[in-house]
Amino acid sequence: MESLQERIRELKDKHNALILSHFYEDGPIQDIADHVGDSLYLAEVGEKAANPVILLAGVVFMAESVKILSPAKTVLIPDLNAGCSLVNHSPYSKYLAWREQYPDAICVTYVNSSAEVKSITDVCVTSSNAEKIINAIPQDRRILFGPDRNLGRYLSKKLDREMILWPGACEVHILFSARKLFELKSQYPKAIVIAHPECDEAVLQYADVIGSTSRLLKEVKDNPAKEFIVATEYGIFHQMQKARPDAKLVQAPAQGSCACNECPYMKLNTLAKVAQALETLSPKVEMPAELISRASTSLKRMMAITRGDSVTWPTQFHA
Ligand code: 13P
Ligand code: SF4
Repeated sequence: MESLQERIRELKDKHNALILSHFYEDGPIQDIADHVGDSLYLAEVGEKAANPVILLAGVVFMAESVKILSPAKTVLIPDLNAGCSLVNHSPYSKYLAWREQYPDAICVTYVNSSAEVKSITDVCVTSSNAEKIINAIPQDRRILFGPDRNLGRYLSKKLDREMILWPGACEVHILFSARKLFELKSQYPKAIVIAHPECDEAVLQYADVIGSTSRLLKEVKDNPAKEFIVATEYGIFHQMQKARPDAKLVQAPAQGSCACNECPYMKLNTLAKVAQALETLSPKVEMPAELISRASTSLKRMMAITRGDSVTWPTQFHA
């Protein structure tokens, strides 16, 4: 009998589809993908691809970014319920009310946000390009940063830029325990601690390296150390272990007794759903053309700064 992987490859050829996977997906999904990466990389590959169909195995905001940047493409996601707690923590009407309080500020929004929120944002960031984007904002402009307060606080300190922070957080990364991490470090005194900036400040203080998923993977690839304590979602262990079969990778401990370092949204995607989506060309990520157009300004400004292009900034916010 034909395997799911074989069926997916056939359907991919039939529709000239490209499969993109985030590092947090299960190993078999990453292995069937044409490209595996962080949220910036997936948006860039999705935008440049000539394929008419893109299947994004990740969460909805990632698939929306591809659609917003390439509205003519059919963008599929294996499960439309694959949301994100940061999106849930930043409803449009509340974000708008916050943004309206500071009309002269530049509103910087993490890509982990809805298309509606992007439409009232001046520039988006991901954790791999946030420093470059914020450094491109004129020094005399006030900065609003949302919806991840931990990423915002980390950037504000590192870049010495004051920011007004939206109080959202990732429900997965805030569960890592600083106290338990401190204890674990004494068990593995030579281990390099690597952490995603969505972790709480108390956890980040023990990290040797803080960065996006691709930055953390690069550290494991390039650092000759033999032990790493990893404070991010478990799915990335797949690429880390492939790159460094000789290294011991230890999951940073979570609070309580839960094994809660798995993103429940990413894990909604399965190989069977990937096959089904390619079979039926659904579920599709669709948005009204007018929303795509309004949300594209902040994403395109992000892409331009990332490429090194100069950009202009609005002086006042108008909803
Ligand atoms: P990256 O952009 O670093 O891949 O992070 C995305 C994300 O959702 C982290 O929780
Ligand atoms: Fe969202 Fe957190 Fe899951 Fe990343 S790990 S997709 S921020 S809920």
